[in-house]
Amino acid sequence: MSALLKTPPSEIRRIIKFFFQYIHLFIRSVTLLWIATPTETTFFSITLLLQSAIPGIAIWINKQVVDAVTTTLSLHQESSFWTLISLVAGWATAILLQNLLPPYSEAAFANVKEKLTAYVNFLLLQKADSFKDLMRFEDSYFYDELQLIQEQVVYQPTNLLGTVSIIFRESIAMAIVLILLTPLGWWIPLIILLAFLPQTYFSFQIQWDIWETMSEKSPQARKMQYYSSVMLTDAYAKEVRLFGLGSLFIQRYLEAFEDKYQAMRSLRTKKALVRSILAVSSALANALAFYWVVLQALRGQLSPGNILLFIQSLAYLQENLIQIINSIFAMQETLIFMERLYKFLDSQPTLPIAKPGLPVPLPIRSGITFENISFSYPDGRLALEDISFTLKPGKTVALVGENGSGKTTLIKLLARFYDPTKGKILIDGTELISLELEEWRRQIAVVFQDFCRYSLTIGENIALGNLNSLNNLEELKIAAKKAGIFDKIDSLENKYQTLLGKQFDGTELSGGEWQKVAIARAFIRQKQSQILVLDEPTAALDPRSEYEIYHTFSELVRGKTAILVTHRLASVLMADAILVLKRGKLIEQGTHEELLQQGGEYATLWNMQAKQYDRS
Ligand SMILES: Nc1ncnc2c1ncn2[C@@H]1O[C@H](COP(=O)(O)OP(=O)(O)OP(=O)(O)O)[C@@H](O)[C@H]1O
Ligand SMILES: [Mg+2]
Repeated sequence: MSALLKTPPSEIRRIIKFFFQYIHLFIRSVTLLWIATPTETTFFSITLLLQSAIPGIAIWINKQVVDAVTTTLSLHQESSFWTLISLVAGWATAILLQNLLPPYSEAAFANVKEKLTAYVNFLLLQKADSFKDLMRFEDSYFYDELQLIQEQVVYQPTNLLGTVSIIFRESIAMAIVLILLTPLGWWIPLIILLAFLPQTYFSFQIQWDIWETMSEKSPQARKMQYYSSVMLTDAYAKEVRLFGLGSLFIQRYLEAFEDKYQAMRSLRTKKALVRSILAVSSALANALAFYWVVLQALRGQLSPGNILLFIQSLAYLQENLIQIINSIFAMQETLIFMERLYKFLDSQPTLPIAKPGLPVPLPIRSGITFENISFSYPDGRLALEDISFTLKPGKTVALVGENGSGKTTLIKLLARFYDPTKGKILIDGTELISLELEEWRRQIAVVFQDFCRYSLTIGENIALGNLNSLNNLEELKIAAKKAGIFDKIDSLENKYQTLLGKQFDGTELSGGEWQKVAIARAFIRQKQSQILVLDEPTAALDPRSEYEIYHTFSELVRGKTAILVTHRLASVLMADAILVLKRGKLIEQGTHEELLQQGGEYATLWNMQAKQYDRS
């Protein structure tokens, strides 16, 4: 108790705030259950409700039996047949409920669990899809949160359901037993509950510390996860072995674990200690009530049945209250998860979407203009600075510049994955942000530097660029031919139906072959789009494939607006104009000849590469 007196008011306020936060999360989560699966949840609740009546019925019948027996014996009366029958019937009901209900409630639990998990996942996916920009995925804070949610969404809804159902069932059972106790003295249930209060309060206080520590220490948990994934994931397997990194990552893993474990261990010890001390106070209060009940019985004020009722109720309540409190605490980790989830679900899209958006010019006539564009990533890093240029329709522009100069960023702005921090992008004089976004994105076919490898069939992998072609084999073949992957597909046993990727035991392609599939995907999209963007499309290709791709590319882009990002300057020759980026700035622009004449950065790069080839 002295600890309670020493607790400063600000601490109490914090704990109260924590308590209400907990209640709020609890209510929202229970509501979620209902929304996820109303019928199943109702059925499950009914089975729980019936189960919660069992302890009360059993205790009450026991009391009646003892009272009936003692009255009959002491008054030397014949026992009433109907009393006996009704008691037996009561008993049978309790036992029947106890044995009949579990199979149904277990089945209902499993059904609700599955539906809830799927529903939470559905909400998550729907929300992720509603973010039309890349902010949530490229900002490390949001990304971390999202990863954490994704890992836990598999099991946390089950935990939620498990603890909520125990709390629900046990609270009602407790209420029934407490009501049974009131005829003995109105203050008896009160004192039993009050005796538990300090325990609950301090447990909450400690749990609050654990809550804080867990969220504070969660970087440690993330690190543990990361280090073990480095050791266990195929992508790292080669380097980890070659560089002998195993012991380093195991060591890091253990350090992160130790850090987290120490903090949690001391809190758990504190929790156990406080709870055991407080258990004594609760025992004292119960002893007081026990003393009074026995005294009343000895004085003939209470029947023997009531003593049994009291003893059984007390034994039951001890167990039941501990179970409720434990479930409340077991829920804490789940509620941290739910809080994260709600925060994500409540977060607003960061990209303003014009509704209704202006129609996209089809075709674009005067061009795409970048007007004094600057851009900083969410972490504040300036990636583009005061860039101005115009992409003329039907022309090919090459973007060159060293690593990190902002080429990919420029393309992200063009696809409107981000809006510029300063400046405007104009499409035929209309601001890009006021155009219909989906329609604009349809205008862009792009092969990203870090293109995706889908564990789908090779046909689907190509058709994803334009879902209308999903069942159009001819179109798939044309795209495959242009991307130089036609012969490879033809050699596969299942042709376009061949499943790719390791995920579902599919066929694995080489890095270059995957890249060709990604290029085919852009080519198939190109039918509906006006702009083709290739960001380092040939990095993984052999010289022959590279030559062939550029050859088809130059044919393909005829009459289209195209952006070509490349480090291989030989392929730049087909471009109508060249933009040279350096550390986020546009330092040169012009044709190949003009830039060579200028003798600047481009000329230096060109000469460097030319020399390399001269030597070989
Ligand atoms: N998601 C991000 N968050 C923060 N900074 C980023 C992000 N992506 C890129 N950057 C930074 O922006 C700058 C430009 O990156 P960008 O990817 O546009 O370069 P790039 O010219 O395409 O380089 P490369 O030739 O290596 O592909 C770099 O300094 C990079 O560190
Ligand atoms: Mg790049």
